[in-house]
Amino acid sequence: MQNILTDMVGKTCLVTGANAGIGFETAKGLATLGADLILVCRDSHRGEEARKQLIQDTGNDRIDLLIADMSLMDSVRNLADQVNQNYPHLHVLINNAGVMLSKRQLTAEGYEIQYAVHHLGPFLLTHLLLDKLKASSPARIINITSKMHTMNSIDFDNLQAEKKFGPFKTYAASKLANIMFTYSLAERLEGTGVTVNCLHPGVIGSNIGSTPGFIKVFMKSPHKGAETPLYLASAPELEVMNGKYFMDKKPLASSEESYDKTVAAKLWDLSMVQTGLKERKVESAA
Ligand SMILES: NC(=O)c1ccc[n+]([C@@H]2O[C@H](COP(=O)([O-])OP(=O)(O)OC[C@H]3O[C@@H](n4cnc5c(N)ncnc54)[C@H](OP(=O)(O)O)[C@@H]3O)[C@@H](O)[C@H]2O)c1
Repeated sequence: MQNILTDMVGKTCLVTGANAGIGFETAKGLATLGADLILVCRDSHRGEEARKQLIQDTGNDRIDLLIADMSLMDSVRNLADQVNQNYPHLHVLINNAGVMLSKRQLTAEGYEIQYAVHHLGPFLLTHLLLDKLKASSPARIINITSKMHTMNSIDFDNLQAEKKFGPFKTYAASKLANIMFTYSLAERLEGTGVTVNCLHPGVIGSNIGSTPGFIKVFMKSPHKGAETPLYLASAPELEVMNGKYFMDKKPLASSEESYDKTVAAKLWDLSMVQTGLKERKVESAA
């Protein structure tokens, strides 16, 4: 792979959704570069198969598997506890896990699944791992978003698709939330030695990419889809790059709405409450 062959020996990297598609290929690239890896998968069988395959393919056996469902806040908290307790460092956090659904489905906690997996889970996990990342600095957070974020805006009256679900639109809003989270967090991280950027990986023939409505012939391989995440994780020239949206290894502008600081601030405050990071205000009867 071009211009990313930076040694990652001694770096601990966590990849969510690491058993398939872009996450698997990103994990493979990091393992090839010598990183210590934490794979986060929701299914222990699929996760273990991926771990074995990665060790076999790369010869790197410093690969651990942790099980978590990124749509469930309790599961994310449990994951963060395990990372915080068992790993002295965390240098790279890649929030990659994703789903695309054709019908509205809610988690047991009452959140629309795509919003929970793409936005709330990473929002909570990142917050809970921030002290570890800061103590390991220089460290990088990478959020996998999508160019599809341009297809929707943040509607606070329809964030859980409670009024209207759109097979692509609801996904798009959750990916827009990824970008707004990236930009808001980047401001808060200035000067800490931890950076956060996000990226569109391309149109990739993965399991998500097999969703009806996508035309396979235009798709690139998951290996190709891992190029920009790997670049953001490892390129020395990006050590201080913060708060940008990337595609094909280059920073570019995201949608106009993604820069709306009023919407971003409201989304941040709401997410703090939805993830339980901030207590829900009890409405006074008076
Ligand atoms: N493919 C594209 O064209 C494209 C374009 C733009 C952005 N993206 C983004 O790229 C990321 C990776 O997607 P992909 O294309 O590689 O899709 P994929 O092949 O379907 O892989 C998705 C991964 O996320 C995991 N996952 C799903 N729900 C999860 C949950 N609740 N908890 C933990 N892990 C979960 C999956 O696990 P299971 O195997 O157990 O389901 C799988 O490992 C996603 O964020 C996606 O939105 C993809």
